[in-house]
Amino acid sequence: MNYKILNFNVIGDERGKLVSLESFKNIPFDIKRVYYIYDTNAEPRGFHAHTRLEQVVVALAGSCEFELDDGKNKEIIKLNSPNVGLYIGVNIWRIMRNFSNNCRLMVLASDYYNESEYIRDYNEFLKVVK
Ligand code: TYD
Repeated sequence: MNYKILNFNVIGDERGKLVSLESFKNIPFDIKRVYYIYDTNAEPRGFHAHTRLEQVVVALAGSCEFELDDGKNKEIIKLNSPNVGLYIGVNIWRIMRNFSNNCRLMVLASDYYNESEYIRDYNEFLKVVK
């Protein structure tokens, strides 16, 4: 499936910890956009795939689960560490759920927001990947 778990190097000392994210170094694309998701509740999110966009998601605080689906298989990935990134490539249907109370997700994206490259209909997604 077109995803990867990225384990970031943590630069830590007695003052705390620091993680640095750089385009084409530990992030496998040019970062054009950053957005974050917080104040979530029991409502799952996502329910879409991207035809062109690549993203890396980091749980800066708390945890949540990603259900990833390539049209054939589904996998559930739990994100709960600021030093782990979930890379999601194109044509992966994603659902985010089971957010912890304090969950803060930071998302790095390979392009500007463009609704026209989203697939928001699951049947259309299945047609695209088959
Ligand atoms: P949506 O895709 O529903 O979020 P999620 O994938 O978390 O379920 O996006 C919510 C709204 O925010 C929707 O109207 C599109 C808008 N949006 C932007 O304007 N810019 C962005 O970078 C993103 C990711 C979403």
